[in-house]
Amino acid sequence: MTPSSAPLLRTEGVVRRYRSGASEVTALAGVDLEIAAGEIAVVAGPSGSGKSTLLHLLGALDAADAGRVLFEGADLGALAERQRTLLRRRRLGFVFQAFHLVPVLSALENVEYPLLLDGVGRAERRRRAAEMLDAVGLAARLGHRPDRLSGGERQRVAIARALVHRPAAVLADEPTGNLDSRTAGAVLDLLADLNRSLGTTFLIATHDAALIARTPRRIVLADGRIVADSGRAA
Ligand SMILES: Nc1ncnc2c1ncn2[C@@H]1O[C@H](COP(=O)(O)OP(=O)(O)OP(=O)(O)O)[C@@H](O)[C@H]1O
Ligand SMILES: [Mg+2]
Repeated sequence: MTPSSAPLLRTEGVVRRYRSGASEVTALAGVDLEIAAGEIAVVAGPSGSGKSTLLHLLGALDAADAGRVLFEGADLGALAERQRTLLRRRRLGFVFQAFHLVPVLSALENVEYPLLLDGVGRAERRRRAAEMLDAVGLAARLGHRPDRLSGGERQRVAIARALVHRPAAVLADEPTGNLDSRTAGAVLDLLADLNRSLGTTFLIATHDAALIARTPRRIVLADGRIVADSGRAA
């Protein structure tokens, strides 16, 4: 298989166990999954079924106890920590339920931050961050700090920050969990638009029934296993 025909994300028999004291929880009990470049998929399933654990593994934020996680054909477990860091910084974006914005920075500065980490110069940083905030409909809010923004606006800043470096994939953990249903719908429309216009792959862990219903690829976890996948590639 040539690298270009490899799926963007792939897991092979992934197992993740958590030990606390004498007890052990198997969060993922053998997960095989393929996500193609440009897909938008949801990961659903009850609380504790392993959704966040799976996203952390796919995002190189955590390591499997058994099995392999591949990103663009590269085995994440075989990379050096430095390479994993670069991959997270350049090829991946993350969106979390609680936004995780830096409170003392403006919307623009929050979105610039990933570019700063990657050594992009100030003028280009500003330009690209402003462009991405414009794309999420916040051109008029560049100077606002997070505490001066609504929940939906904060989540849009977080989405702009996750996308500003044009990652191949964005991993979103309950991105609409703190939003009312109307705002959640608007955030979802935005993700679908960005998926179409930028070709970014989105994998979204969620309990949100409306979000699940309108996403074509639905992967359902229960007790650390995939129990349904509406769009599994053959
Ligand atoms: N750091 C940890 N230490 C110990 N156990 C953990 C840890 N993180 C998760 N777990 C356990 O692993 C299992 C899977 O957790 P995970 O957070 O992946 O579930 P989830 O599907 O994201 O749930 P939710 O919908 O509530 O966010 C759960 O049983 C959980 O208690
Ligand atoms: Mg979770």
